[in-house]
Formats: sequence, structure tokens, C-alpha cells
Amino acid sequence: MSIKVGFEHCKADDLYMPSIWKDRVREINKIIVDKTGAGGDYLGWLDYPTRLEEKEIDRIIKKANFFRDHYEVLVVCGIGGSYLGPRAVIEAINGLYSQDKMKIVYLGNTLDPNYTAEVINFIKDKNFCVCVISKSGTTTETSISFRILKELAEKKYGKDKAKDAIVAVTDKSQGALRKLSDTEGYETFELPGDIGGRFSVMTPVGLFPIACAGIDIKEFIEGLRDGVKNYSSENLEENEAYKYALERHALYLRGCKVEMVVTYEPRLECLNGWLKQLFDESEGKEGKSLLVTSCTFTTDLHSLGQFIQEGSKILFETVTYFDEPNKDFEIPFDKDNLDNLNYIAGKNLSYVNRKAYEGTLQAHADVGNVPNITLSLKKLTPRSIGELLYFHMKACAMSAYLNGLNPFNQPGVEVYKKNMFHLLGKPGY
Ligand code: PA5
Repeated sequence: MSIKVGFEHCKADDLYMPSIWKDRVREINKIIVDKTGAGGDYLGWLDYPTRLEEKEIDRIIKKANFFRDHYEVLVVCGIGGSYLGPRAVIEAINGLYSQDKMKIVYLGNTLDPNYTAEVINFIKDKNFCVCVISKSGTTTETSISFRILKELAEKKYGKDKAKDAIVAVTDKSQGALRKLSDTEGYETFELPGDIGGRFSVMTPVGLFPIACAGIDIKEFIEGLRDGVKNYSSENLEENEAYKYALERHALYLRGCKVEMVVTYEPRLECLNGWLKQLFDESEGKEGKSLLVTSCTFTTDLHSLGQFIQEGSKILFETVTYFDEPNKDFEIPFDKDNLDNLNYIAGKNLSYVNRKAYEGTLQAHADVGNVPNITLSLKKLTPRSIGELLYFHMKACAMSAYLNGLNPFNQPGVEVYKKNMFHLLGKPGY
């Protein structure tokens, strides 16, 4: 088990009494495994990593390598669960200023004309390819962006060659994108019907763009499989994902309405975005749920840090920390020492970051009375991030069911869409 969940900075022991909750967790685990709870039809992700066939993995890698050999930019076109997963993994592994030969840009995640124009401007004179992702095939942001990209690709490469530059990830048999892809002859990968967008990073939704970014998806899949193995026990004492779910539920019952997910690494900001996607869309229902929001420290310690330390006591923090940095930097010695930094000269930046983390834990938890859950991992690799994502999906399902919620629908999201369609004059609205 490579994720260590720590509750020592989290004074919710009064509520977190495993003996009382053990049976409840066992019952919920059963409805998850048997798929008999609300939304049980969307639990295909539970064992998907172990069912994924080598043949399909090889087809993904083959097409991704074709893209890497023939194009310099990949546009990932999708929104919400249909794009954040791959972006989170790609940025976490390759960083924010990647030197990889394949640049990855994102479209379909906004209706902003300025951003759209920027992306189009960036790609139009480059050899670009497209991965369009939509389960329904009718999401407005994705559809509009793809229409623009398709037109650009066809103008640039000609209709016939354009289809080599486009891959679609969508439902096997239904939806507008499936119909369009079959008609145009795009290569497609399947987003299984029993897996919702925010649980789909383990499917070609995540795997194809991640492979295009030059990341070893076999290693990533191994990590997902570690997750299946490590977080399957019905026994609360043996299941770290369930312990985490229970602790956040206990804190919620104690009056914490906000979970601040914290990283000390800017390249993990999108991972925190994915966590908001996963938990807020799964649990933000029926007027009773935690709000998951995020911070990057130490950056945000200079702004939100003030609120966390001394503001309203509405939140707890969950800090994810990777012990070994992938890269490090030594602080130089300066003989004049005008900045008074020689006391840490020769130390690595990772050492200072770690001390900031330890000092902040004490400040927030012990002085500020803000409970802190810690998730510690050894090193950020495709494998460890695969396990971490699976850990959160499992925790999310348990957490929503503990609160009596269906984790797999999103009825609230439809409200703005209906209003927008009405205002746009869409037939039927
Ligand atoms: O998690 C979800 O289900 C959503 O965030 C969807 O992924 C998002 O709305 C995009 O939907 P679609 O894949 O149908 O375009």
C-alpha cells in the first residue's frame, strides 16, 4: 500500500470511532460491490483496470505513437470528467512547461471566444491533431469547439487526411459523436456505458491523451490495478480509502462544511481540479454535502492562509505530499549574504518545502484548530498517481453513500444547460 493516510492532525476522534462505523462501512461496501445502491449502473470503473485487455492497450499506444510521430500539437477537446483526468495526469508527470516533443493544449472546456481564438491561433500553423472526448456527444462546449477544429483540420490537411489526425473517445453505439465519427471514418475508442465522465480517467478518455504525452500508460494502469487490490477490503481497518472517506464524513458531521485539498506542487493544481470535479459533482446534492475546494501552498499561504489560520471555522484540510521530489535544486551560498539566506545555503529546495509543510501543519491544526488529514506518498510516478486516482474514486463512492447520496448522477448540472438552450433558441427548449 503506497498511500499513507494520517489522522494525527485531525481532532475528530470523538466521531471517528471505527467500531461504531465498521458495520455501516461493510454494508456500503456490499452495495458498491453488488452494484445495488443508487446509481449502481455506473460502477463499471470498479474493476475496469483489471478487465482492460492488452489488445486495447496496444491499439491505444499504436495510435498515440502515430500522433507523436506525425504531429507536434495534440488538442484534447472535452470538458468536465471528459478532460480533467488526462490533464491532471499529464501535468503532474510532465510538469507545467513540458519539454516533450508533443505539446498538449485543451479546448472544449470553455465557451470563451478569447481563449478559443488563442488556441486556434497557437495551432493553426503547426501540425496538429485532435482527440475529441464526449460520452453523450452533445455537450455544447465540446461540440462547438470540435466543429471549429474539424473545419480547421479539413482546410489544412484536406478532408481525407484530416481523418487521420482525429481520434474520438465516445460511447460504443450511441450519441452524436459516435454517429459523426462513424460517418467521417475517425478511429474511435470506447468510453464504456457503465462509467461516468469523472470516473473515466482509467479508460481511453485518460489513457489515449496520456499516451500521446509520452507517458507510460502501462505503468499508470499498474497503479490503477494497485488501487483495485489495495482498496477493496470491506474491513475499515484495512482500507485506507474507506478510512479517509469516513474521516471526512466525521468532520462534516462535526460542522466542517469545506474540505480544502492542498498541494505543495503547482504541477498538481490540475489534480486538485480533478478532485473538485470528482467529489463536488458526485456529492454536491440535496443541500447536504461538503464543498471540496483547493489551495497550492506555499503560494496560497500568502493569501488564503490567513483565512485558514484565523477565519471562520468552516473547513478542514487534506494535504497530499510526495516525500521524494523528482527534481531538486540546491540553494547557493553567497559570500555577501545580503539576503541573510546563508543559514540554509547548501540545503535543497525540497527540504525547505518540507519544513514549510511541517510548520503549516502545526500552525493550522494545533494553533488554528483546523483539522488536517494527510495523504503521504513516496514519489510521483505514473504508477503512484494511478493508485492515488483510484483511491479517491473509491473514497468518493463510500463518502457519498455514507451521506445517503447517489454519487453517479449530476441533476444540478442540467439546470443551467436548459436555461442556456432556451435562451439560445434550441429546438425543444
Ligand atoms: O463527470 C461527468 O459525468 C461530467 O463532468 C461529464 O464528463 C461532462 O459533463 C462532459 O460530458 P460528456 O462526456 O457527455 O461530454
